[in-house]
Amino acid sequence: MFTVPETNRRFTLKTRPESLPSDENFNIEKCAIPPTPPGKLLIKILMVALSPWQNQRMKDFKNYTEPFKIGELIDCDVLGQVVDGSVDGYPPGQLVTGRLGWQEYAIASPEQLIAISAEFSETLWLTALSSPGLTAYCALDLFGRPMPGQTLVVTSAAGAVGSFAIQLGKLAGMRVIGITGNKEKSRKVIEQLGADDCLEHNNPLFAHNLANTCPDGVNLFFDTLGGAIGDIVFENLAKYAQVIIVGRTISNNSERPDQDPVNMRQLWAKEASIKGFSRYSYPERWEFARERMMALCRQGKIKTIDHIVNGFEKTPSSLKDMLSGNCTGKVLVRYSEKLVNIEND
Ligand SMILES: NC(=O)c1ccc[n+]([C@@H]2O[C@H](COP(=O)([O-])OP(=O)(O)OC[C@H]3O[C@@H](n4cnc5c(N)ncnc54)[C@H](OP(=O)(O)O)[C@@H]3O)[C@@H](O)[C@H]2O)c1
Repeated sequence: MFTVPETNRRFTLKTRPESLPSDENFNIEKCAIPPTPPGKLLIKILMVALSPWQNQRMKDFKNYTEPFKIGELIDCDVLGQVVDGSVDGYPPGQLVTGRLGWQEYAIASPEQLIAISAEFSETLWLTALSSPGLTAYCALDLFGRPMPGQTLVVTSAAGAVGSFAIQLGKLAGMRVIGITGNKEKSRKVIEQLGADDCLEHNNPLFAHNLANTCPDGVNLFFDTLGGAIGDIVFENLAKYAQVIIVGRTISNNSERPDQDPVNMRQLWAKEASIKGFSRYSYPERWEFARERMMALCRQGKIKTIDHIVNGFEKTPSSLKDMLSGNCTGKVLVRYSEKLVNIEND
């Protein structure tokens, strides 16, 4: 039998980061694991999914989600395994996903969990079939109006959300241009994700290169970054362009998130439409989006790039690395290997 340990470890917020997070911003709390209540499950967390919104919520400013309180557990999507409790459909050993946070164990209700099938790889349940894939799918499906032959530009193209926007744009027949922070990422975006081209935003010739790569202008701009990079894309919009604002990674993670100036001149001049997007406003679309992403994965039409780090303690530094542009693809921190044969473990 699996023996439930006496204590859980969890990261709680100690102080708010000024820009990027570091170990000093967190406490590792040790707390007793209580007996699993009837109707609930004890989940051993195998892997956590990191995303810029976690750092955004560590700061105290208005956003599309509430800030974490000091002392609160840092939230995130996880891959876990049922190790205790008795609920139909969730036998011991069942793999699940859910939003259970930066901790080694969690007590959860079945309503908080999705039991995952072995048809897809485990990491796919934290990428294409989870927030990054559903965000890209819903934003493009609801507001993208992708048209074959038109030009789509995607920022953070080698990132978790951006990598799916690139592939969905190509599947819709668009000419797709990515933007990343280095040549190696750009190479992967072209070779592995199928983009037509990919430019580096920190190249001094970036504005010039973008204008050359999009001679007829950008018809659809899928933006997760904002800031000066977004403004340079605005300078290259085609008439009647559509802009979907999916994230503001640059300002949200800066020291002054409240200061997020945008040059509106070209948006006006090109009569562009701009749509802010949060997937949390469309929960009724998630199941459909997940089914569609599953179908595309089955057909081998969607690829993922995973960046896996090992070790619970490395969670804050991995978030910092991701926000510093040091990682390609979805950043996942492995807390434990999957348990086999739990009854006899
Ligand atoms: N609206 C929604 O429903 C929704 C859902 C999920 C995520 N989001 C948002 O979408 C954005 C992307 O999330 P993700 O999980 O896919 O993260 P991600 O793109 O995988 O990771 C962040 C990337 O942003 C780039 N970056 C960070 N700081 C930068 C800076 N100062 N200047 C230039 N580039 C910088 C880096 O890529 P490069 O080095 O390649 O530039 C970094 O790898 C986030 O803002 C997140 O909050 C929104």
